[in-house]
Amino acid sequence: MMHIASVGVSKVCFLFSLAFCGLLLLLIPALRPSAPQVDLPQPRPQVRPSRVGPPHHTRAPAVSVCAGGTDSTTELNGSSVQQGGSLSPKRWPKSTGSPARQALPVVKGGELSGSRSHDPLELKDIFIAVKTTRKYHKFRLELLIQTWVSQAKEQTYIFTDGEDKELQMRTGVNIVNTNCSAAHTRQALCCKMSVEYDKFIESQKKWFCHVDDDNYVILPSLLQVLSSYHHSQDVYLGRPSLDHPIEAAERVKSDGSVSVKFWFATGGAGFCISRGLALKMSPWASLGNFISTAEKIRLPDDCTIGYIIEALLEVTLTHTYLFHSHLENLPKLPTESVLNQVTLSYGGFENRRNVVSIAGGFSLVEDPTRFKTVHCLLYPDTDWCPKLKPHNHRN
Ligand SMILES: *[C@@H]1O[C@H](CO)[C@@H](O)[C@H](O)[C@H]1NC(C)=O
Repeated sequence: MMHIASVGVSKVCFLFSLAFCGLLLLLIPALRPSAPQVDLPQPRPQVRPSRVGPPHHTRAPAVSVCAGGTDSTTELNGSSVQQGGSLSPKRWPKSTGSPARQALPVVKGGELSGSRSHDPLELKDIFIAVKTTRKYHKFRLELLIQTWVSQAKEQTYIFTDGEDKELQMRTGVNIVNTNCSAAHTRQALCCKMSVEYDKFIESQKKWFCHVDDDNYVILPSLLQVLSSYHHSQDVYLGRPSLDHPIEAAERVKSDGSVSVKFWFATGGAGFCISRGLALKMSPWASLGNFISTAEKIRLPDDCTIGYIIEALLEVTLTHTYLFHSHLENLPKLPTESVLNQVTLSYGGFENRRNVVSIAGGFSLVEDPTRFKTVHCLLYPDTDWCPKLKPHNHRN
């Protein structure tokens, strides 16, 4: 009796699971996510029910403005220079690939990333935008071109506001005259960001990284960090500019009577966005829309990026402290961790001594920014680097 009944039950179960599997098979095509992102998404922003900021972190007091008056960088001054302990090797072989990949950050939302990407990320997959202005071509840009940009000439684009054929001819770097105003105003900065965005989309590259003209990009670290994600995921990676989200009046999805809270990555430390996410930003960022978005919410360029990603697209910023701006207390960065960072900076408001502490072939007088010293530790074979060992004799 019991026996027969249980056989009956398992038969029923068996038939039921067969039917279920059949149903699943039929449903699979319907469930598959739509189209690979080759083209831009639909031009119309889908208006979603508005939400008051990201779900995490609501404790902090509201900040009403996204500061950033004179600079596009907005950050708590010097609060937390953190060593990026998670990247181990001190040095990498000249200009080549990433050291053994490690389990690095996880994209929020829980998916462990990277593990299933088969073709390793290469430097040529990354679009690096450097924002500058005509008057800094000589004092800031030349140093970058001499150092890290020389190792990534093909994929680095300098966005500026004036012609400089001479520099372009002499160095062979990509210089884009944005025709934006040279003023350091929100409009001018957003104008440049808008051109950067459009150039990136056009480039077909997998990652968009934006840096300022006072950043050194440690390319092997950048490659390693980005390698732990996939460019089709929604990734927005950078240093949070404050220790709490900022709050702004919502003037895109509503009339400004509601406010939104969101995090943003400080532009002065550099940030990266995956292609998948960049494409979703298109309704608010492409072809001049970035400027009108920024005007609507009246925020600087880096804040506007955060607004589009966190508040409109509801994708969270992946916080990293491997990116550094001049607003931090840079000498506090532990010497042994300097080469493991992704970006470095120097100076700041009348603070020429705000540089990373690292020793090498150049004195502070010869290399006040420390960028040459960092560069020679990373690429010792560079022809202008001091040949160490027996005697400090420079060529
Ligand atoms: C800036 O203006 C020049 C001359 O009109 C033009 O050739 C160039 O394409 C413009 N640049 C951008 C990024 O629109």
